Amino acid sequence: MKFTIATLPGDGIGPEIIDQAVKVLKVIEKKYNHQFDFQFALTGATAIDKTGNPYPQETHEICINADAVLFGAIGDPKYDNDPKSKVRPEQGLLEMRKKLGLYANVRPVTTFPSLLHKSPLRRELVAGADFIMIRELTGGIYYGEIRGRTEDGTKAFDTNVYSKEEILRVTRMAFEYAMKRKKKLTAVDKANVLATSRLWRETVQETAKDYPQVELEFLLVDNAAMQIIQWPTKFDVIVTENMFGDILSDEASVITGSMGLLPSASIGKHTSVFEPIHGSYPQAAGKDIANPLATVLSAAMMLESLNLIDEAKAIRNAVDASMIQGMVTEDIATGKSYKTSEVGDWLARHILLKK
Ligand code: IPM
Ligand code: MG
Repeated sequence: MKFTIATLPGDGIGPEIIDQAVKVLKVIEKKYNHQFDFQFALTGATAIDKTGNPYPQETHEICINADAVLFGAIGDPKYDNDPKSKVRPEQGLLEMRKKLGLYANVRPVTTFPSLLHKSPLRRELVAGADFIMIRELTGGIYYGEIRGRTEDGTKAFDTNVYSKEEILRVTRMAFEYAMKRKKKLTAVDKANVLATSRLWRETVQETAKDYPQVELEFLLVDNAAMQIIQWPTKFDVIVTENMFGDILSDEASVITGSMGLLPSASIGKHTSVFEPIHGSYPQAAGKDIANPLATVLSAAMMLESLNLIDEAKAIRNAVDASMIQGMVTEDIATGKSYKTSEVGDWLARHILLKK
């Protein structure tokens, strides 16, 4: 079959890790007789440097017309310490989410037994943790239009706004995920303080009537932050609003000790976007040391979304084999470590030669 894949390397280590995913996908293409048309496009600081815009119209058109988007990372430290800068790489990401209607960010949090020693938590607390964080991605305080500063510059404000419709669609998706898993859903809010959270809670309760088999629990966000580190194995699917999800998903990703292995999918109205969760890691850019596995696993999630199940499995098997054989980058190596490109080459060969 033929698929068009918008490929957005972005900033920092983005280009190096995307290279490895493309390498792997090219082998899949050959072995399984598909045709992947990789359409490369600019985003982030790289796009600002070349066009002045972190999400140029041309990039948007490539994305919206593609079957899926494979995304590296964006962000550049030169913007982080300049709060007055008019354009920022992150604006590109937010605009892409809005224009592609990516209302749900799905981050599987999985532990790998061989990496448990890297977890900041004691092994017995985190072993076996396996849950999915679903974060609403195009609403809330990130997008509330009433924002700014008073004229004298001494007060600033953002607004957290949610419509019932926005809550409903992501809530339904979360229940559907729970139905396919252990049928447990935790809805995280701050209903004891925020009006938006009370609308969330009400909407989740209504939706629950259509999913009587799913065990539903509500947690206040501060309590959820605690329980994720105290008792990570209790969770199956978590759903929450944009800002809480931003914070909790970083917390959740780091407890596994394998941040460099975690992929994500952003799903919505148009083309879905698949990206590693670790960001642009500028200190490592260009050094060929970044872990490509999260991006390669994002490519596997992408293939699953395109219904290429065996193909995705072949990628996952290769990643497992690379870990078992210690064919990994320095961040997760226990003995000898390999370069980003060497790991990519190894995965590609493994897939090609495997019967
Ligand atoms: C993420 C990131 C972004 C966010 C930033 C880069 C704008 O932290 O994808 O979680 O806050 O959503
Ligand atoms: Mg974040």
